[in-house]
Amino acid sequence: MTFFDRRQFMALSVAALLASAGKISAQTARMLTKAIPATGEQLPVIGLGTLEAFDVSLTAEERTALGEVLKALVAQGGTLVDTSPRYGEAEAVIGELVAELNLADQLFFATKVFSMGEQEGVDEMHGSLNRLRVPQVDLMQVHSMRDWELHLPSIRKLREEGKTRLIGITIHRDPGHEQMMDLMRTEDLDFIQVNYNLLERNAANQILPLAQDLGIAVMVNVPFAKAELFNKTSGIALPEWTSEFDCESWAQFFLKYVVSHPAVTSVIPRTSKPHHMVDNLMAGFGGMPDAAARIRMEQFIDGLG
Ligand SMILES: NC(=O)c1ccc[n+]([C@@H]2O[C@H](COP(=O)([O-])OP(=O)(O)OC[C@H]3O[C@@H](n4cnc5c(N)ncnc54)[C@H](OP(=O)(O)O)[C@@H]3O)[C@@H](O)[C@H]2O)c1
Repeated sequence: MTFFDRRQFMALSVAALLASAGKISAQTARMLTKAIPATGEQLPVIGLGTLEAFDVSLTAEERTALGEVLKALVAQGGTLVDTSPRYGEAEAVIGELVAELNLADQLFFATKVFSMGEQEGVDEMHGSLNRLRVPQVDLMQVHSMRDWELHLPSIRKLREEGKTRLIGITIHRDPGHEQMMDLMRTEDLDFIQVNYNLLERNAANQILPLAQDLGIAVMVNVPFAKAELFNKTSGIALPEWTSEFDCESWAQFFLKYVVSHPAVTSVIPRTSKPHHMVDNLMAGFGGMPDAAARIRMEQFIDGLG
């Protein structure tokens, strides 16, 4: 297959996947959105994570596939793209593709500050704006809360300068939850980003209720436990009762579980594959599991051992 054939094939595949979603296409329904408490704006529940997936040298094939991932996100009403200077080439790759596809106005950009040191952090944040090719990001987060004492004041200054709209902190492992809750209580935060999935449910004990109480938006990372959930369910048929909440794949099972938690604002599954992006986006449409169905989902996964 030549590059042109492949490109056509990829474009057709995504179009076919979107069309095959039929009853839940953009023409007939909208993706579920939730309000960001700090601003009241509605954020579509399914976004995109870019760790590793966008850290590439952009061969022609990758350019096509990652471009299709971004186009699929926007085509189904998604907006949120989460990245970090920690993810190698990811910011630069997103910046290049978004500029090429003219999608900047339709995206909600979330990035992070990772470096240690005050000036290093400030320089890194300005570098992110350059790499993403935007004058302002929507959300600037302190990556894994590293050097937060120095970075939070710098991010506030960045906000005064109009270079970010919102402020957040992130963690992706349970041992960071206590510190995260301390900062949620003492710092003025718009967003937290935290690990929560069917294998790692601890955030639901304290962090998620606290976020609800304090009016802090929640972005969930590692929703698939870094693909561990797919390994666990490999070869197992999706239970019939999942059709009650319009679930058609394991990815949708895992994502619908996350976004149906009342405290969760959005989730950022990572993928470099257009058909996986479409699959993930479909989780934001149709019914959602209620409290009883959520318990059933937990019991099903726990029962796999
Ligand atoms: N401290 C932090 O701030 C922090 C830490 C970790 C993560 N994050 C953020 O959270 C995002 C998500 O976490 P993650 O990337 O670690 O892991 P994840 O989203 O839990 O899992 C990603 C894995 O799932 C696969 N996948 C995605 N969609 C699929 C589908 N529909 N069907 C089958 N497989 C599918 C991906 O492979 P394919 O590429 O083949 O689809 C990849 O192997 C990151 O990308 C990053 O933006 C932030």
